[in-house]
Amino acid sequence: MSSNNLETMRLNAAAVDMAITSRRATRAFTQAPVSRQTITDLLQVASRAPSGSNTQPWKVYVLTGASRAALVDKVCAAHDAIRANPAEAIEYHEEYDYYPEKWISPYIDRRRENGWGLYGLLGIGKADRDKMHYQLQRNFKFFDAPVGLMFTVDRGMGRGSLLDYGTFLQSVMVAARGHGLHTCPQQAWNTFNKIILPHIGAGADEMLVCGMALGYADEGALVNSFCTPRVPVAEFTHWLD
Ligand SMILES: Cc1cc2nc3c(=O)[nH]c(=O)nc-3n(C[C@H](O)[C@H](O)[C@H](O)COP(=O)(O)O)c2cc1C
Repeated sequence: MSSNNLETMRLNAAAVDMAITSRRATRAFTQAPVSRQTITDLLQVASRAPSGSNTQPWKVYVLTGASRAALVDKVCAAHDAIRANPAEAIEYHEEYDYYPEKWISPYIDRRRENGWGLYGLLGIGKADRDKMHYQLQRNFKFFDAPVGLMFTVDRGMGRGSLLDYGTFLQSVMVAARGHGLHTCPQQAWNTFNKIILPHIGAGADEMLVCGMALGYADEGALVNSFCTPRVPVAEFTHWLD
């Protein structure tokens, strides 16, 4: 199919829109396996993502079976150890600042709305430290998804490569929808890069960008009914005629 065939593209518009708008951060998965062929297919599609000068800075590690289970065990143990002795947190830090050091409005407000909205749905109150720990730890189990993805970038690359990475990650998530799969992108793993990078066999020149859970959504799970709002187009768009 020629990408210039306008009629074909118009016919596909609804499917493209659906793939994008049906994506949501999924936080409960079924145990249904995802075949290596399917994972390869969606990575193949995602590899068409644009990147500055076609540098394609992404490196993907696919964890299933024993390698996934072993990483989950190691990171959950470290996470529990920090809970038991908060001083241990000094051992772990993310390599790049995902979030700002000093939060400003309106982003902090959206963040709070998102966090408390999710916790509220799950019945987690501000003082429920155990429940919060448990919910955060769901990240380190890939929310039970059978496939865990880890994404790294060469440390020698510039900040623009993280921009390139965004196009790639979204492409993976949208392509997953085309196979009936769901995802959750996860920066939560970044704190534990010291455990993750050697586990996946990444080179010394690689930095962890984030992780991602991939699988079939558990549609009955309460957490997956969480629906996030968006700022209207008119609010974030400036028309300069
Ligand atoms: C790069 C990136 C990292 C994220 N990290 C996490 C994470 O560690 N844990 C989590 O539960 N959600 C994570 N999210 C999901 C966001 O919270 C979610 O995308 C946002 O609230 C909007 O909701 P939606 O994806 O369902 O539309 C991440 C999203 C992105 C894009």
